[in-house]
Amino acid sequence: MSTESTRQQMVGYALRTMQIGREKLAIFLEPSNLEKLRPQLEFQTGVLAGFALLAAILLGIADLATRGVIQQRLQEDLQANLEQVVPAELHDNNLLEDSVMIPSADARLGADQTEVYLAKKQGEITAACFKFIAPDGYAGPISLVMGVDKNGEILGVRVIAHVETPGLGDKIEVSKSKWVLSFNGKSLDNLTVEQWAVKKDGGVFDQFAGATITPRKVVQAIKRGLDFYREHQVELLGSAQ
Ligand SMILES: Cc1cc2nc3c(=O)[nH]c(=O)nc-3n(C[C@H](O)[C@H](O)[C@H](O)COP(=O)(O)O)c2cc1C
Repeated sequence: MSTESTRQQMVGYALRTMQIGREKLAIFLEPSNLEKLRPQLEFQTGVLAGFALLAAILLGIADLATRGVIQQRLQEDLQANLEQVVPAELHDNNLLEDSVMIPSADARLGADQTEVYLAKKQGEITAACFKFIAPDGYAGPISLVMGVDKNGEILGVRVIAHVETPGLGDKIEVSKSKWVLSFNGKSLDNLTVEQWAVKKDGGVFDQFAGATITPRKVVQAIKRGLDFYREHQVELLGSAQ
């Protein structure tokens, strides 16, 4: 049998099946038939299941259609955050394209793995930046991003998400106060362990009036971030080649 006649047979079969399906659907949808079916529990369950299936399919399609766009927006958001803590003059690479995954389960940074983005100028590493979490803010976790230069000196810190109380703990946001800028230039070398604390605890960083817990926890998390960088400094700086 030729390929053409097989194809014609298959098309004929498909058309007949569609015709039968249409006829059956027309009989099924006849008002007198629906009148009989409506009181039956199986019919109502079937209709409900049909609508649920339709909703699931529509949701699936919407998810597929928006997934790529959402991913792109998240990447743009991350890039904008990283660029706030690494000055533009320190890199000519795309930070998102130069990163190293470092195990951080023991570093108490809020994740088992931390992605460290490397800033490079003419192929030379100039700085590193990464996201981490202070898990124990007053009202919940506080997400931070920090940039450090090659020697571990802070270039910038920003709070990127938190649920601290407006008017009290939210002064950690750079849009509310300049407090977070007080970390610029600080490192494990130019402050002692004791100085890495809010003033109320004997350190050098201001607390806020009526809100000591939030800044205390942010200072402690930033110190842990610096410890993490120092621990992996050699490995990170060697990863340029
Ligand atoms: C409704 C409410 C919200 C508060 N929100 C915060 C907050 O977001 N951050 C914070 O550090 N303290 C917040 N505080 C104050 C803390 O409970 C605590 O008194 C304050 O941090 C001072 O801590 P200290 O006694 O160690 O100085 C809040 C208190 C209340 C009653």
